[in-house]
Amino acid sequence: MDKLLVTGGSELEGDIYTSGSKNSALPILAATLLTRDRCVIRRVPDLSDTNYMVQILAALGAHVERASGTVEVEAEKVISEAPYELVRKMRASICVMGPLLARTGVANVSLPGGCVIGDRPVDLHLRGLEQLGADIKVEGGSIYVKAQDGMGDREINMRGKHGSTVLGTDNLMMAAVLTKGTTVIEGAAMEPEVKDLAHFLKAMGAKIEGAGTRRIVIEGVKELQGAEHTVIPDRIEAGTFIIAGAIAGKRLTVKRCNPAHMTAFLKSLTDSGYPVEVTSDSVTVSRAASPRGGDIRTEPYPGFPTDMQAQFTALYANVPGISVITETIFPQRFMHAPELNRMGAKITLEGPTAIITGVDHLTGAPVMASDLRASAALVLAGLMAKGETAVNRLYHIDRGYENIDEKLIMVGAKMRRVRE
Ligand code: EPU
Repeated sequence: MDKLLVTGGSELEGDIYTSGSKNSALPILAATLLTRDRCVIRRVPDLSDTNYMVQILAALGAHVERASGTVEVEAEKVISEAPYELVRKMRASICVMGPLLARTGVANVSLPGGCVIGDRPVDLHLRGLEQLGADIKVEGGSIYVKAQDGMGDREINMRGKHGSTVLGTDNLMMAAVLTKGTTVIEGAAMEPEVKDLAHFLKAMGAKIEGAGTRRIVIEGVKELQGAEHTVIPDRIEAGTFIIAGAIAGKRLTVKRCNPAHMTAFLKSLTDSGYPVEVTSDSVTVSRAASPRGGDIRTEPYPGFPTDMQAQFTALYANVPGISVITETIFPQRFMHAPELNRMGAKITLEGPTAIITGVDHLTGAPVMASDLRASAALVLAGLMAKGETAVNRLYHIDRGYENIDEKLIMVGAKMRRVRE
């Protein structure tokens, strides 16, 4: 199991480049199952999660080729069963359900397992497909979905008690593109990744209006064709580097990103006194002369993203005063807090709220990564800590960050991956 040894105190300077978005690439790869033609997807980040998706596509019968960021998929024939051995490795594999249903009329997908960031039900996915007119049975740990005659011409509300659902909206959009009639999705997730998927589906010939808003209208078509697509930049990877710049930047420029997708957290950063310069595709950030704490609430897009919460918790650990972060999407997503406290942070949890009292400095310590964004937070904390931080269980970070250590070393970070 790899671990990362991070020596704190280095200054970051220069340009760091953003990869393609993991959370766009995963459903877009799943969408290639909707056609028997060849699809070419560019800027797919090389991550263990995208590798799982490639394996899942192959297991479902597709022919897949992957070379330096480009994945070509030809799903001439498709098997409609995604077994537990595949699905258990990655929750996002649930997004093959919509395409399998649309393409073959049936989908048999194992229920994804538990997740360390909290309870992650799929009731909204199922409710949406049911309202689309599909017949659904959950039995023996598997979901069986069957298309019924007359699917389509429906108005479906996808809002749940924590707001909209990203993969649920993706699944429904993919299930609806080949059904008869018009499907209206109300309460749709507005995340840029949903819009990116819609762009790809439209390039395949789908008729979709309103992706990126609360209301998506899909007019079913008979079949889809092969298409080429370039995945959008990963706003969360870019955001993580931006926090690295706020923590240790002499002047760090995060390039090849889309600042328009990062408005909420860039505002939190400037509100806390960090100098941020934005162009159409880059963000430059450095340490603040006198940073202030913040008060953050995670929300669905365009609000402050839950996937940036852990990184801001790490940042505020070392900012004078008291900061408050409330997690409304995944209320238990604070596995990083006790680990940061082991490094000398003062974070107390009151239900879904973290109260962070800024300390003078953090001290390097062995810490345990528990999920993707929590691991990123620990690496960031290591950059500012005195001494060495050993981030164990690094495989979590490799699920969602392409060569994070190499990229940070290029701009001056001191860290070393140790293979054990
Ligand atoms: N929810 C339900 N029922 C459902 C689906 C979701 O109650 O059927 C709840 C969830 O429990 C949560 C909220 O709705 O409280 C939002 O969850 P959502 O469905 O939007 O999450 P997701 O689609 O499974 C994606 C990202 C996550 C990101 C969330 C929220 C992918 C592959 N994953 O998950 O990314 O945190 O949206 O923005 O797109 C990450 O990259 O580290 C990550 C966890």
